Amino acid sequence: MDHPAIAEGNVAVITGGASGIGLAVAKTLASKGMRICIADNNHDTLNEATKSLDGDPLVVVTDVSDRTSVESLKNEVLSRFGQVDILMNNAGTSIRGVTSFSAIEAWQQILGVNLWGVINGLQAFGELMVSQGRPGAIINTGSKQGLTNPPGNPAYNISKAGVRTLTESLAHELRAIDNCAITAHLLVPGFTYTGMIAKVIAERPPGAWLPEQVADLLLERLARGDFYIICPDNETTETIDHRRMQWNLDDILQGRPALSRWHADYAEDFRQFMDSED
Ligand code: NAI
Repeated sequence: MDHPAIAEGNVAVITGGASGIGLAVAKTLASKGMRICIADNNHDTLNEATKSLDGDPLVVVTDVSDRTSVESLKNEVLSRFGQVDILMNNAGTSIRGVTSFSAIEAWQQILGVNLWGVINGLQAFGELMVSQGRPGAIINTGSKQGLTNPPGNPAYNISKAGVRTLTESLAHELRAIDNCAITAHLLVPGFTYTGMIAKVIAERPPGAWLPEQVADLLLERLARGDFYIICPDNETTETIDHRRMQWNLDDILQGRPALSRWHADYAEDFRQFMDSED
């Protein structure tokens, strides 16, 4: 059985819904009879996406980093549908090579979309969803980079670590509200071949999942009531993910240097840890 918010006639709002994972989730929910709103800042892909969705989706040009734009999204959703049952704060962006000393504008763009976009979505829709008094789900899209902080893109990693922290806090806050049937979930895709990846890699590498696989796993894990929905891909198994996360935490617990996974002095220890039996 699906999460109770997934029902015919219920409403899903999906940011970054014109492409990739957001669009795949929109298609899956539309095929279950849900009424869909996709919000995105890319006019061209929004137009294309509309044609591929069942039903009569609401399509709203939105910049999630702009609170006013997200408030008008809410107003459009309410005037068309009058309710929101699933909110997926999923819009994301990545700029390659943004390091600690890169220009502030690049930092602001990444944090504006990936972190403020989620905060804006939550603040615009969250209390409204609670006040409806019905089951609902808020799904925020994070990243493994927000869990293990690989070197090379600290702005992106911080944005996704922030999404994790925010979503964990949200889950706790929702649990504390009497008779609240809104659940919070952190979706962590693995390597998935989407618009974002196609900008830098022309063809889907064998290691990458399709966005539809992420959508399928999301629905399966929502039905189970999972908070952390961490997707594998064709090269990274659940066991590999668990070990990488464990190694990160052990940097703190064992007093190793930060990000020792990528430290030459720890390369052999890390390799042995990953290869160990238990
Ligand atoms: P995508 O590029 O296909 O989809 C992202 C969508 O967000 C695009 O349609 C884009 O136009 C939209 N967007 C960007 N800035 C926006 C803004 N300011 N306002 C509204 N919409 C905006 O990429 P994908 O992979 O489907 O991304 C979805 C989410 O998944 C992102 O949050 C991304 O960080 C995350 N993710 C993706 C992974 C992957 O391997 N593809 C891995 C881990 C996380």
